[in-house]
Amino acid sequence: MKAGRKSRRLGQSSVGRRSGDGPHNLICANAGVVGMGLMGSSIAACLLAAGHTVTAIEADPARRTGAPRQVLSLLEGLRKERLLRLQPREILRRMSVSEDYSTLRLSRIVIESIAEDLSVKRDVIRKIEEAVSPETIIGSNTSALPPTVLQQGALHPERILGIHWAEPAHITRFMEIICGKDTQLVYAERAFALARQLGKEPSLLHKDIRGFITNRVMYAMLREAFYLVESGIASIADVDRSLRNDLGYWITFVGPFRFMDLTGIPAYCAVMRDLLPDLDRSTQVPALMERLVKSGAKGIANARGFYDYTPAQAKRWGKRFLEFSYDVRALARKYAEEDGEIAPGTLATTDKHRDSQK
Ligand SMILES: NC(=O)c1ccc[n+]([C@@H]2O[C@H](COP(=O)([O-])OP(=O)(O)OC[C@H]3O[C@@H](n4cnc5c(N)ncnc54)[C@H](O)[C@@H]3O)[C@@H](O)[C@H]2O)c1
Repeated sequence: MKAGRKSRRLGQSSVGRRSGDGPHNLICANAGVVGMGLMGSSIAACLLAAGHTVTAIEADPARRTGAPRQVLSLLEGLRKERLLRLQPREILRRMSVSEDYSTLRLSRIVIESIAEDLSVKRDVIRKIEEAVSPETIIGSNTSALPPTVLQQGALHPERILGIHWAEPAHITRFMEIICGKDTQLVYAERAFALARQLGKEPSLLHKDIRGFITNRVMYAMLREAFYLVESGIASIADVDRSLRNDLGYWITFVGPFRFMDLTGIPAYCAVMRDLLPDLDRSTQVPALMERLVKSGAKGIANARGFYDYTPAQAKRWGKRFLEFSYDVRALARKYAEEDGEIAPGTLATTDKHRDSQK
């Protein structure tokens, strides 16, 4: 059975139900992560914090050496926030890092989180497939590549899907699970159950589409933001400030559809009639973006971005972003979806532990 046909069941009643061959089969102890960069490290921290054993693969020797320290610091952050009962060093013993794909053989799920390059991702997926069992789920943390494209040429495409995390992956509750054309429903169900166990609030995409949900919406917003700046209508700082104080204030509380319910639907209909034809529809990467990237700017990673930073300021922004992520996580939990299920996961449980210690 392909994902599309039974998809309604998955988002509603079947997920969370216990059955012999159903989703709870994968409350796995052994998980693999390939690519221990920014996201792979926080994905590994998330899996470790929820009790899994993590076998990590990293091609770059320096990153391989640095990965345990990086993951340890993320676990220490969770512990500081009282989201972890065990000692970070103790938890870290459940992680191994190497360049040897054969170490993945016992993994029941492997998350691929290498650079966003189709041919390299395909090559890595092939190496993972050669190491693991045919039932092992392979989830690609791609930002925008459709899983159908990643399935092409695979040995067992039915267990390949997109598992899209948000950085910092050990804190955020976001997860998109995306079925490719050949994904079998049972694997999406298992990934969904695992997501709940990790304390995520996952969304399921029944069919894949480039950019999935959040990136399609976010990039539409980014295009318009560049248009406003490049047309001289507002400065970068003014665009940032407006979005932060309007969209940014309500978006953790509700999504756009609930927001329209809360604030009156007909006005949006009237505005759409006039405004939609006026919005930017360019298909080119904005010139400002091209210039910045050509100049070597990477953002706070090298203290060069849309804003100027000293190295100390860049570091401080990174730290503030982590602190803010914890606060938003707590806020989102306080105002949980009333008609949604509350995630029963390990981190959700430790959230309660955190509250009881306040
Ligand atoms: N950065 C984000 O906020 C974010 C959010 C969602 C999804 N993603 C996606 O996650 C993926 C990883 O992004 P990132 O920001 O962590 O990148 P990154 O460059 O920080 O990390 C990639 C890591 O993969 C390693 N690697 C590359 N080829 C490899 C191979 N063949 N075998 C093993 N390791 C290999 C690199 O050495 C590096 O350590 C990308 O597909 C990206 O689009 C990123």
